Amino acid sequence: MKGIILVGGRGTRLRPLTFFRPKPLVPLVNRPFLEYQLDLLRRYGVEEVILCVNYQAKKLMRHFADGNRFGLTIRYAAEQEPLGTAGALKNAAAMVDTGPVIVLNGDILTDVDLEQVLRTHRESGAWATLTLVEVDDPTRYGLVVLDRRGRVQRFLEKPSWDEVTARTVNAGIYVLEPAVFDYIPAGREVSVERETYPQLLQRGVPVSGHVARSYWLDIGTPDKYLQAHWDILEQRVSVPVPGREVSPRLWFGQGAEVSPQATLIPPVVLGEGVSVRAGATVGPYCVLGDQVTVREEASAAHAVLGRRCVLGRGARVQQAVLDQETRLEEGACVDGLLVAAGSVLGRGTRPAGLPGPPR
Ligand code: GDD
Ligand code: MG
Repeated sequence: MKGIILVGGRGTRLRPLTFFRPKPLVPLVNRPFLEYQLDLLRRYGVEEVILCVNYQAKKLMRHFADGNRFGLTIRYAAEQEPLGTAGALKNAAAMVDTGPVIVLNGDILTDVDLEQVLRTHRESGAWATLTLVEVDDPTRYGLVVLDRRGRVQRFLEKPSWDEVTARTVNAGIYVLEPAVFDYIPAGREVSVERETYPQLLQRGVPVSGHVARSYWLDIGTPDKYLQAHWDILEQRVSVPVPGREVSPRLWFGQGAEVSPQATLIPPVVLGEGVSVRAGATVGPYCVLGDQVTVREEASAAHAVLGRRCVLGRGARVQQAVLDQETRLEEGACVDGLLVAAGSVLGRGTRPAGLPGPPR
C-alpha cells in the first residue's frame, strides 16, 4: 500500500523554527517530526511514501532521500508553486496506480489505528474515508458532520462559532480511492478541504467518517508544538522516547553528563553529549538537544533547547523553545518565547514582547 504525506506548507505559525527548515524537519523530542509519521505508516504495512513537497523541498529530499534509512521507499511529487492540499494530491496522482492510498497532513502527531480506518473504508464502500477526532474548538479545524450511518454530510473548513454544529473535525488522515483524483482540476491551486470534499458531497459521491479515540495533535502552532513534547514525555502517545531511562522519566542520550551537584526534575530528556554543570537545575518538562551545555547555576523548565545551545552561568529559560545553537550569556533570561537558531542573548538580557507560546 502507498502513503502520501502533504508537506508543502510554509509552516508560518511555527516561525522562526520554520525559517530555515520546513515544518516536517522541525525536531520533536530531538527527532525530525516527519519521522514519527513515517514510523506510523510503516507500522501499518505502507511500503512506499510519496512526499508532496514545495517549501524548502531540497532540504526534505536531502534528509529523507530514497527512504532506505527509514525502511521505506520514498518518492517526491514537487510543486513549482504551492498547489494547495488537493492540487498537491493531483500532482502526485500519476505515481498512484492502485488504491486505496493513505493520505496524511504533514503535521499530525498521532497513534491512530490505521487498520481500523482502513476497515471502515472497506466496509462502507466509500470513495474517501476521513478520520475524525473530537475537539473543544472546531473553529481551528475542518468541521465534519456525520449522519447516523457514518456518512459525511457536511465539511466546513475553519467554521465560525455560529456554524459549529458538532465537535468532530477532520484529523488530516484520509483513505482515498484514486478515482477521487479525477475530481480535482489540474494546474491550479485547489484545497481539498474547501473545494474537493464539499464538491464530492454535493455530487453524491460516498464519503465516510471514522471517529478515532486515539491520541491526536496538530503540532503546527507554538503552544501545540510544546504540548506535543510534554505528551511524549508523559507517554500519552505511543511513540518511543529517545535515550536510556536512567530513573523514572529521566532519559539520557549517550555521553550525557550531569554534575552530582545539579538537579534534574522529571520528566527530562537529555540528548547525546549534553553537559549539565554544578548548581544547574533542569526540569520539569525539558528536552535538551545533542551537545547542549547548561552551565553553573543556570536553569531550564518547560523548555525545549535545540542542539548545541548553551545556557551561560545563571541563565534562565522557561516556557520557551530555543532553536539550535542559541547562546544565552551569563544571567540572560528567556520566558515564553520562540528564539531563532543561532541567536545570542547578551549578559543579563531579558527579551520581552516577542511572539511566543502563550503561558
Ligand atoms: N504539498 C503541499 N502543497 N502541501 C501543502 C500545501 C500546498 O500547497 N498547503 C498545505 N500543505 C500541507 C501542510 O504542509 C500541512 O502538512 C497540511 O498540508 C495541512 O496544512 P495546514 O496549513 O497545517 O492546515 P491546518 O492545520 O490549518 O488545517 C488542516 O489540518 C487540520 C487538522 O490539523 C485541514 O486539513 C483541517 O481540515 C484539519 O482539521
Ligand atoms: Mg496544521
